[in-house]
Amino acid sequence: MKISTEIFSEWALNGKDEGMEENHRAAVSEMLSIISNNRSKPFSFIDAGCGNGWVVRLMKKHSLCHLAIGIDGAVEMIKKAKTIDPDGIYFCSDLLKWIPEQKVDLIHSMEVFYYLKHPSELIRHMALNCLKPGGEMIMGVDFYLENKKSHSWPVDLNTHMSLFSEHDWVTMFKTNGFNQVQSFRVNVNNEFPGTLVVRGKLKN
Ligand SMILES: C[S@@+](CC[C@H](N)C(=O)[O-])C[C@H]1O[C@@H](n2cnc3c(N)ncnc32)[C@H](O)[C@@H]1O
Repeated sequence: MKISTEIFSEWALNGKDEGMEENHRAAVSEMLSIISNNRSKPFSFIDAGCGNGWVVRLMKKHSLCHLAIGIDGAVEMIKKAKTIDPDGIYFCSDLLKWIPEQKVDLIHSMEVFYYLKHPSELIRHMALNCLKPGGEMIMGVDFYLENKKSHSWPVDLNTHMSLFSEHDWVTMFKTNGFNQVQSFRVNVNNEFPGTLVVRGKLKN
């Protein structure tokens, strides 16, 4: 099996990141609206597993977002992000090994957490080391138990993916520091049960 970040480095080199961006755009737009609309105070933001950095660049345009950071383990994705946006803040690192200089208000992640062998470790790491008290995390995944068509992806892509149900993901958030945990689907259509979204808040 290949390492997922190496696969995505190849995707950045051959332009497949742009198709991925388009495929994720509808779900991400809904997720970003949910977490950023109705905010009245300035906030800081991390996109965990940012790919080519397109979500960071979107968030930078939000009038209240004073700091947007992208982090990804794929060398070529981060090189591409920095080429497109030389003033942007992007780090190339394994998510489990990276800690921001200052904790942030919001963490977003699209189609990333299931590449980890133990996603609960990453959820705990984000809660302990990356988010401010009262901060919020929102995660979207298309690979989950109830989306049966996704089950072939680990073989199709020849990489590890951790398969969990909606209930499992919610439990992981709840048992790793998050409160007010909600789950729902976005971008649902006739052929697709939707992106599974889980969001939660840290205690103040
Ligand atoms: C399906 S892509 C999604 C990229 C981006 N969120 C988007 O929507 O375009 C998954 C990304 O997660 C990154 N990734 C996977 N496991 C990682 C890890 N342990 N640490 C850092 N990045 C990781 C990959 O390099 C890849 O860019």
